[in-house]
Formats: sequence, structure tokens, C-alpha cells
Amino acid sequence: MTLLSPQSLASDAAAQPVLEVENLVIRYGRATRRPTGPAAVDGVSFTIRPGETLGLVGESGSGKTTIGKAILGLQAVTSGSIRFEGQQIDGLKPRARRVLATKLRAVFQDPYSSLNPRLSIGDSLAEPLLVSGVRREEAQLRAEDMLEQVGLPRDAVTRLPRQFSGGQRQRIAVARALITRPSLVVCDEPVSALDLSTQAQVLNLLADLRDELGLSYLFIAHDMAVVRMLAQRVIVLYRGQVMEEGSTAAVMDDARHPFTQALLAASPVPDPIAQAERRRLRESRLVDGASASSISATGCPFAARCPMATELCRTERPALRPAATSLAACHYA
Ligand SMILES: Nc1ncnc2c1ncn2[C@@H]1O[C@H](COP(=O)(O)OP(=O)(O)OP(=O)(O)O)[C@@H](O)[C@H]1O
Ligand code: SF4
Ligand SMILES: [Mg+2]
Repeated sequence: MTLLSPQSLASDAAAQPVLEVENLVIRYGRATRRPTGPAAVDGVSFTIRPGETLGLVGESGSGKTTIGKAILGLQAVTSGSIRFEGQQIDGLKPRARRVLATKLRAVFQDPYSSLNPRLSIGDSLAEPLLVSGVRREEAQLRAEDMLEQVGLPRDAVTRLPRQFSGGQRQRIAVARALITRPSLVVCDEPVSALDLSTQAQVLNLLADLRDELGLSYLFIAHDMAVVRMLAQRVIVLYRGQVMEEGSTAAVMDDARHPFTQALLAASPVPDPIAQAERRRLRESRLVDGASASSISATGCPFAARCPMATELCRTERPALRPAATSLAACHYA
């Protein structure tokens, strides 16, 4: 199943990007003052155009959430820049951030993080509108309209989050993110906590609303199958660095980077024979290798786990460059 509409596929390559991330570096804790230490995000650049969904994939700890948080102003940037609709937004003062908060929204894995358990759904949905100066009666009406748009009854406004199922709560979180008519939504693992059929429903909802409202998404997930359903373009992250970037079809069906190939081989498939083949491939790609902790400061970050690594890989960091139909950071892609 694919949720890519012809309309969204035809997003205008020439349109001004909604988001431009350039050479982003983020260090946590003591590493902030020790520039040679490993960075959680290490020189990441990408753009998102109007109506486009960019998938951000990678293993646990690769820096996906850190990038999302930096865009949302929840994480300080060490260097590099983030521009939203042409305006530099990293390091914005809280007041300027609040103004931006209506246009730049988020949906997280756990809806409890965005829904106050003690507030009624109506109050939770109305809150971001009230903050931006909308009158209470209008905010309440828009909350009811928005609930209808995400497939819930209007009278859900009077109920509390705990009175809904996980899937329904995620619909409410989507409603809360979209009620302010944003142009970009950072979706960080929005369906990871849901069962498969509920995942499909929420993904369908996100795709429909994107196309209806002309939204852009940064769609963060570790599950390649989920990203395939929604994203037009994909970035593959490893240890805070971009390994491969390209159209979803190019990256998923003709991966050029050994890490992307290993990641794809690690993603589960329902067919047991295909899954056994994946397991064999994964083992040959050393994606579960024990040497994951060793990382070369100067060479390719994947060198310690890559079956194709050479001396060159250990000494020279490969740049992101064209390889077949995608861009790959590999000397031999
Ligand atoms: N608040 C923090 N303080 C220190 N280090 C952190 C902090 N948050 C994240 N990190 C580190 O930064 C790196 C990237 O973490 P991040 O949460 O961005 O990864 P992720 O790709 O979102 O992983 P996951 O798939 O598990 O959600 C990890 O090494 C993590 O340990
Ligand atoms: S540059 Fe070398 S180590 Fe890195 S992915 Fe390519 S072949 Fe493997
Ligand atoms: Mg994360």
C-alpha cells in the first residue's frame, strides 16, 4: 500500500523550501565544550518543500529525535543553521518562538506528552488557539471541527484523554497539532506505539490531512515500511551523519549505501521465507555487529561494521555524492 498521492508527488521542486537545515551540529553535555568528542548530530543538511514529506530513518541513537527537537526549539544547536519559511529560527528568543509555534507543530510517539491528562479534549485542542489570540467560542468550534476531521465525534470535546484508546488518542494528538493550520509538522515515531491496523489508519489520516491542507512533514521513524507509506524522500542517518538521501523509491528499492542495505535487511517482513533471506543478508552485513561502539573520528562512521571497509574508509570520511539515483556517503557506492 502506498499513501503517496499524485498531487503530493508533483510538489514543485522550484518552490521555496519550508525548512532548510544546513550543516547542523548538536553536542550534548560535556561534549559541547569538547569539540573533538562525538556529536549526536554531525553536519546534517536537508530541505523540505511545501507539501512534501521527508522521512528520517536510522537506528536507535542515530540522532533523529535530536534533529526534530532542534527544529522545534527544544534543543540548542551547537553550530549550523535552521531556516523556516526563509527565517533563521535556531537560537530564537522565547517570544519569537511562541509566535512560530502555531506554524511549526509536532506529533510524538506518546500522545500523553502533548495531551494534559487533566484537561478535557476540547480544552487541550483550544489551548494553542487561545494562546494565539483566537476567541474562546471560536476556538471551541474549531476544536469540534478538527475532531470531525480526524474521525472522532464532536462531543469528544467534553471527555478526558484516558477515556480514549491509544489510536484515538493519537488522532487527538494529530488534531491538536493541526488545529493551528501549521505549514510543517515534525512527526517523531507517531505510530510506533500502535498495533499494525491502527498504524495504517493513523498513517492514512496523516496522508489525507497533508494533501487536504498542503502540509509538510518531517517524518521520523525507525520502521522503513512505515516511512515508505508516507514519505516522498528519505534521509538515512547513522551516528548523527547522513549516509544516504534520495527519493523513497531510490533509497528503498535500490539502496547504494551498505548501511541502508543493512537497515533494509533488518526491517521485518511478514513472509517467513523472505524474512529468512533478510536475516541471512543482515548477518552478512554485520548490522548487529558487536563492534558498534568503535567509530573512526576521521573516516567513515560505518567502517567498524561495514563488510566492505578498506584502509581508505578508515582514514577518509566519504562525502555525500551522487550514486545511481540517490546520494550516498560511501567511497564505493
Ligand atoms: N538529553 C540528552 N543528553 C545527553 N545525550 C543525549 C540526550 N538525548 C539524546 N542523547 C544522545 O544523543 C544521541 C542521539 O539520540 P536521539 O534520541 O536523537 O536518537 P534517536 O535516533 O531519536 O533514537 P531512537 O530511535 O531510540 O528514538 C544518542 O547517543 C543519545 O544517547
Ligand atoms: S565508505 Fe567504506 S566503510 Fe563506509 S560504507 Fe562505504 S565501503 Fe563501508
Ligand atoms: Mg527518537
